[in-house]
Amino acid sequence: MSVQTAVKRKTAPDIRARKGGDPIVMLTSYHAHTATLVDRYCDVILVGDSLGNVMHGFETTVPVTLEMMILQGHAVMRGSKQSLVVVDMPFGSYEASKEQAFHSAARIMKETHCGAVKLEGGARMADTIAFLSERGVPVMAHIGLTPQSINTLGSFRAQGREEADWARIENDARAISEAGAFSVVVEAVAEPLARRITESISIPTIGIGASAACDGQVLVLEDMLGLSAKVPKFVKRYGNLAPAIEAAIEGYATEVRSRAFPGPEHVYGMKPKT
Ligand code: KIV
Repeated sequence: MSVQTAVKRKTAPDIRARKGGDPIVMLTSYHAHTATLVDRYCDVILVGDSLGNVMHGFETTVPVTLEMMILQGHAVMRGSKQSLVVVDMPFGSYEASKEQAFHSAARIMKETHCGAVKLEGGARMADTIAFLSERGVPVMAHIGLTPQSINTLGSFRAQGREEADWARIENDARAISEAGAFSVVVEAVAEPLARRITESISIPTIGIGASAACDGQVLVLEDMLGLSAKVPKFVKRYGNLAPAIEAAIEGYATEVRSRAFPGPEHVYGMKPKT
């Protein structure tokens, strides 16, 4: 008989059931140590492909691979206990066909033990979302600004700036909701459009640069901690950690250079031989 673990993790249906209720708190994490901290306060941890920018210094998320997502997804699962962990499907791992998407999602879920995957795209991904959902893969969709499409979009500009574009984005939201996504990230859209989407679909909307008119919010952890050199304009900083980290590193380097660092006698109470 197997031993059951005491802490119950949130599931995709738990998050789906939060529509219109208490706001959903979500942050990214890519490591076990940050996951442990984020896990205490968040409903959902996103292992975002923004790790390509944040951890690896790429200009875009396009170079991120399935292997990178799996490695960090597994680390986040080991560091967390109660949040739903959602792992991003990277560019090139799901767009070619529904079958390709299922193989990639199954690898992510088997090798990380996460509870759901996220993919970018609206109406064009609806069939894939239905295919995955019907086969046991909970899908969080991502509409509005979709960073993996940077090479066709041309820039990371807010979406739906003209009212004429709203119908297309609302149609994306409707399509992925009807296809069976359990929630949707809405990135960089104006408040009136975010409100219309949130009011018109039956699954929770999680905004990033999309106002409080959503059912929850997600930010990139390093951006809100003040660790990222470049952040989108909409990001509120809740900390300013870069100067504190730099001061600690400078203090360390200064002590080492002046041989002021402790030896074993400090650590183990050993008396130096005379
Ligand atoms: O990759 C990521 O971190 C994301 C968020 C910006 C929503 O997709």
